[in-house]
Amino acid sequence: MTTQELVEQAADLLAGLDRLTVLTGSGISAESGVPTFRGEDGLWRRFRAEELATPGAFARDPKLVWEWYDWRRGIIVGVRPNPGHAVLARWEEVFPGFTLITQNVDGLHPLAGSRRLVELHGNIWKTRCTAEGVVEENREVPLSAIPPRCPRCGALLRPHIVWFGEMLDRDVLRQALEAGSSCEAMLVVGTSSFVHPAASLPLAAAERGAPVVEVNTAETPLTHLAAVSIRGPAGEVLPRIDEALCSRRKRGAPRRSRRGPSPS
Ligand code: OAD
Repeated sequence: MTTQELVEQAADLLAGLDRLTVLTGSGISAESGVPTFRGEDGLWRRFRAEELATPGAFARDPKLVWEWYDWRRGIIVGVRPNPGHAVLARWEEVFPGFTLITQNVDGLHPLAGSRRLVELHGNIWKTRCTAEGVVEENREVPLSAIPPRCPRCGALLRPHIVWFGEMLDRDVLRQALEAGSSCEAMLVVGTSSFVHPAASLPLAAAERGAPVVEVNTAETPLTHLAAVSIRGPAGEVLPRIDEALCSRRKRGAPRRSRRGPSPS
């Protein structure tokens, strides 16, 4: 099947839905210039996660950990959201029950205008006081002091990011599970589908019969479960799906309910 035929299939599945949940991973930011984690130049190919992204690593060497995040912040500060981020921000107006769940910490979704957003793994532009737990925005690039300290109590600040071996924030996880279990369809963009619990969300959706649409440059463990899987860069494929949805709306395609037709 051609990419355009798959795009049309995806648009057929999504057109007129009320509740759409989208899950994104680092692939959606790749075209903006943010490195992914497991690709050829991925961060976990060049750095050892256990030395940089675990509570133990931070306890051993907070300076090293912060230097790494300071370097990543230096990359991200110079990039812009791409057309894929822009489409997802716009879809908040298209689907009444839209939720975007992202594993990304780069802040590009909010920068593109997304508000109905669940940042599952935190945000690289936020710090958390290791003593008080206070979360604050911090956009200083480069950081003037490494490791940074809490201006109130002097304790170490840490990145407000979920590290390996840590639990997700309970409220954030609840929001993601709610959006995952109530959606009529789920669109999964640019994630290798290896990291749980994020990777479980589309599995659970597929299990209860909600169609899953995948957009990824490569095959993933989710591909065989997806109703439609489109191989291509998110910054090109999402605008094409958006265009196909627009032309259906212009033709006056009726709002579809997965609970069957409404009584006349
Ligand atoms: P990965 O690096 O594991 O996967 C990126 C995915 O994006 C791969 O499946 C690529 O094929 C795909 N991809 C690359 N470029 C793309 C493009 N232009 N368009 C569409 N797809 C593209 O990144 P994640 O799945 O996000 O955790 O990784 C999940 C988590 O693992 C991250 O949130 C991070 C990491 O450890 C934390 O930081 C807690």
